[in-house]
Amino acid sequence: MAKIAVLGSGTGSNFQALMKEFGDEIVLVISDQPGAGILEKAKAFGIPTAVEEGGVDLSLRILNRLGGIDLICLAGFMRLVKDPLLSAFPNRILNIHPSLLPMYPGRAAWEQALADKVEVTGCTVHYVDAGIDTGEVILQEKVVILIDDTAETLHARIQIAEHRTYPEAVRLALKKMSGGA
Ligand code: GRF
Repeated sequence: MAKIAVLGSGTGSNFQALMKEFGDEIVLVISDQPGAGILEKAKAFGIPTAVEEGGVDLSLRILNRLGGIDLICLAGFMRLVKDPLLSAFPNRILNIHPSLLPMYPGRAAWEQALADKVEVTGCTVHYVDAGIDTGEVILQEKVVILIDDTAETLHARIQIAEHRTYPEAVRLALKKMSGGA
């Protein structure tokens, strides 16, 4: 069975969605925000947590905590993952992003989509590389933008899509890691 670490800075709704499918595999949650909801949720599940608060050696400090981990899931982690963490986990770090990449990388992607008045946006799970939201796409789900959408209503619907897409993408990534198609 694979051992998964989840890294997040926020409320942890994607972590919660991943727990439903991978409750036995998720063995560690790390946050850069001591007060993040994801830490509270992890504790409620009895999962070990750690806080690493940023700084130039953040990726090294996180890497030092990941002994025995096979796969890393970024779930609202608002820091860039860099070397040596990146090269220690080639094709082993996944991220969820609230747009149909390569459209709207970066922060508040749903607001960018809304401002552009596009008809469709969505979410993407991708492998993490050295760029910002640029790695190979694993899975995407479209979300139609409604005429009366606000940033809040649109983001809420994108998050519902994320909670479906992320577990499915993790399943695909694990299958690939174990030599499946
Ligand atoms: C998600 O919308 C994700 O796309 C973005 O950050 C948000 C995290 O939300 N990268 P949560 O902490 O999983 O609720």
